[in-house]
Amino acid sequence: MSAQSNASLAAATRLVKNLGTEVRFEPMTLATLDSVLAVEQQAYAHPWQHSHFSDCLASGYQAQLLLAGEQLLGYFVAMKGVEEAHLLNITVAPTHQRQGWAQTLLEALALWARGQAAKWLWLEVRPSNARAIHVYKAHGFRHVGQRKQYYPAQAGLREDALVMSYRLHND
Ligand SMILES: CC(C)(COP(=O)(O)OP(=O)(O)OC[C@H]1O[C@@H](n2cnc3c(N)ncnc32)[C@H](O)[C@@H]1OP(=O)(O)O)[C@@H](O)C(=O)NCCC(=O)NCCS
Repeated sequence: MSAQSNASLAAATRLVKNLGTEVRFEPMTLATLDSVLAVEQQAYAHPWQHSHFSDCLASGYQAQLLLAGEQLLGYFVAMKGVEEAHLLNITVAPTHQRQGWAQTLLEALALWARGQAAKWLWLEVRPSNARAIHVYKAHGFRHVGQRKQYYPAQAGLREDALVMSYRLHND
């Protein structure tokens, strides 16, 4: 991660008192994957496996943990493209959901992406994931397309993805 991105993420770090400790971002590493995978398995019917995360880390993707003391509140993984960044995973630990942490993660993502000179953020989301869609729309994402049969679903079936994008303003 560049010094500029580090500065962006440092700027995004919020000091809050409601958890009795400082909330901060730290890079996801192989050493932190056990706690990430524990949250991932609680949060999704079709969780990412160890190899998904380790491949992202090996590829140098942006992967940040949101922590309160030793508690993992959530994390995101994103890939830089040409003038854009693609959100691959955003997760808030079930015990910490509905407290606004998704917006904190999205703000950190947007700050990092701006630091990479990205003009757009992109993501995919299941049409059945009403909560995530609500959060993305609240952040300013717009539904711009659909990918057929994108996600694994129950009983070996597949589910389409909604494609959403967000224009980053750099002024
Ligand atoms: C989606 C997710 C990241 C949201 O995180 P969060 O920290 O709970 O989200 P927030 O607290 O910031 O916001 C939740 C919002 O969703 C709303 N919401 C909750 N359930 C909802 C539902 N079923 N339909 C629509 N909106 C819903 C809440 O009212 C709140 O909106 P508000 O801020 O306008 O009141 C989190 O639920 C999560 O990790 N889910 C499992 C993994 C996942 O689905 N990731 C996204 C993959 S694309």
